[in-house]
Amino acid sequence: MVISSQEAVNQLKKGKAVAIPTETVYGLAASAFNLSAIESIFEIKGRPSDNPLIVHINSIEQLNLLVKDVSDEARTLIQAFWPGPLTLLFPKKDEVLDKITAGLPNVAVRMPEHPIALEIIQETGPLVAPSANRSGSPSPTRVEHVLSDYNGFIPVVDGGKCQVGIESTVLSLLHEPITILRPGKISKEHIEFVLHKPVEVATMKESHEKVMSPGMKYTHYSPKAKVRWMNTLELEGEFDKKSLYLHVFGSFNSEHHKGFNRDFNHFSRELFDQFRKADEQGFPEIAIEPFRNEDHEMASALLNRIQKAMGV
Ligand code: TXA
Ligand code: MG
Repeated sequence: MVISSQEAVNQLKKGKAVAIPTETVYGLAASAFNLSAIESIFEIKGRPSDNPLIVHINSIEQLNLLVKDVSDEARTLIQAFWPGPLTLLFPKKDEVLDKITAGLPNVAVRMPEHPIALEIIQETGPLVAPSANRSGSPSPTRVEHVLSDYNGFIPVVDGGKCQVGIESTVLSLLHEPITILRPGKISKEHIEFVLHKPVEVATMKESHEKVMSPGMKYTHYSPKAKVRWMNTLELEGEFDKKSLYLHVFGSFNSEHHKGFNRDFNHFSRELFDQFRKADEQGFPEIAIEPFRNEDHEMASALLNRIQKAMGV
């Protein structure tokens, strides 16, 4: 059911799980200092216990409750990007429950850029919040997605459509070289520009082997529809009704196409919603017009999510 932010604060203080909006995707939140609340998050989502959770904060005072040390580089990135879709790893204080970090010595923290999330966290203190999808679904970007994944049983605060639409960039300053564990809207180039240093992007294989970001090893959501690349020229005439076609540059016209008119931010905002719609409407195929990393700041994160949906 949909609840108010005040009701969410009450529920969270009582140790209940509540879905809340953030600028990236909806999160399934629980108090970061309540072990049974955190355990319920793993249960509700069916999440493996070795996949750690991000802690969401609304102030630097709250960060200091969680972490032993904030390096100069971390400070620089916080200045540049918080509140916003960048998650940073820090050495954790003993008070941070091992359940949150899956036994790892580091805790992942971010300050979301959504007025409702910030207002709730101000009242409750730090909240753990994985993406609020049930496993097997893409991350929810609208309140309807959360309601449908849990048949309305998980209370959710309506914060409208998530403005970023894909999950935050996860960055480790604790690895040498500095490594992006999960690409997101805050790009490698932007981080390099701010730090004046080269930054690596972990391949899936590296994350796997080094277990740098345990979540990377789990199979991700793939729509029932087959996802494939297809450019506008190939498309013309080949099908009209069979596929849902997503394109940023092309000008294909059909009732089943969704054009984003060179707007990668719009594309990102809608990607997971379109995946869900394709399956609801029974499309056997989602065709996506190819694009390149260089096309936009968000392109590499979008390529990452699309490749995962392809099962690559
Ligand atoms: O945008 C987001 O980050 C959303 C919203 C709700 O804030 N949250 C989100 O959480 O995507 P989740 O749990 O779906 O993904 C968190 C990712 C996982 O890949 C997890 O393995 C990684 O962050 N992670 C969390 N804590 C970590 C840690 N201590 N060390 C390495 N990776 C960590
Ligand atoms: Mg997730």
